[in-house]
Amino acid sequence: MRPAGRASARQRVSHANGAGHGAPASERAGGSGGAKPPGRIKIAPSLLSADFARLGDAVRLAERAGADMIHFDVMDGHFVPNITMGPPVLKSLTRVSRLPIDVHLMIESPDRYVGAFVEAGAASVTVHFEAVVHLHRVVQFVKSLGVKAGVALNPATPVAALEQIAGDVDYVLVMTVNPGFGGQTFIPRSESKVRAVRDLLRREGSAAPIEVDGGIDVRTAPGIVAAGADILVAGHAVFGSADPERAIRDLRAAAGSAVA
Ligand code: DX5
Ligand code: ZN
Repeated sequence: MRPAGRASARQRVSHANGAGHGAPASERAGGSGGAKPPGRIKIAPSLLSADFARLGDAVRLAERAGADMIHFDVMDGHFVPNITMGPPVLKSLTRVSRLPIDVHLMIESPDRYVGAFVEAGAASVTVHFEAVVHLHRVVQFVKSLGVKAGVALNPATPVAALEQIAGDVDYVLVMTVNPGFGGQTFIPRSESKVRAVRDLLRREGSAAPIEVDGGIDVRTAPGIVAAGADILVAGHAVFGSADPERAIRDLRAAAGSAVA
């Protein structure tokens, strides 16, 4: 891959300016499925389903279609069965991307690699609750490097896992499939889980956005947005489509239909 420059400061504020982050709780979707103001939902196409030989083109396409950020899935063959991309690929993409790149670490001992991904240009870094022993320390470390810190929960991990960290995270990622592969089927129970996460965050006084990842498409987006999701990751629904730009716009429209 080509050498590349670091992400700009502008790229590093994605979640800070993200859907609902910092907004009054009254403006945000409620745990009971309350209305969310239109236009606040962020779309994060996942490169996992793109052609790995043309990742730069995939990023430019996402920009043209109005995506809000690029979702970059890192897998190590241990925490999940699959292996994907590392810091050198991220570094090359930051040279062609004007969008912030959201790094989802599906790896064991993510604390060992956070620095390398931030150095390569990550705007935000998500670590899995299930992969970390000293979660509070890792979250603080990510934030100390000047990027946003997110915590991801696998489908079987209870919402209560967030209780002691909710006040520290910049966003929460609720996995709506089991991590490891693109193109899997959305787990319907995720809607009630997102409502429960929203309720927990509210109780903790946090307006952190909720990101959802896995099986998100025009059919599943309205329900999960109504439940309180702010950021929609979509891989197969975008890059598995014959017309990915249109797929991004369709996904935004579907998300908007939940708030109309
Ligand atoms: C799955 C990854 C996802 C994946 C989602 O483990 O974390 O980001 O790309 O893909 P789709 O949208 O195809 O389910
Ligand atoms: Zn992901």
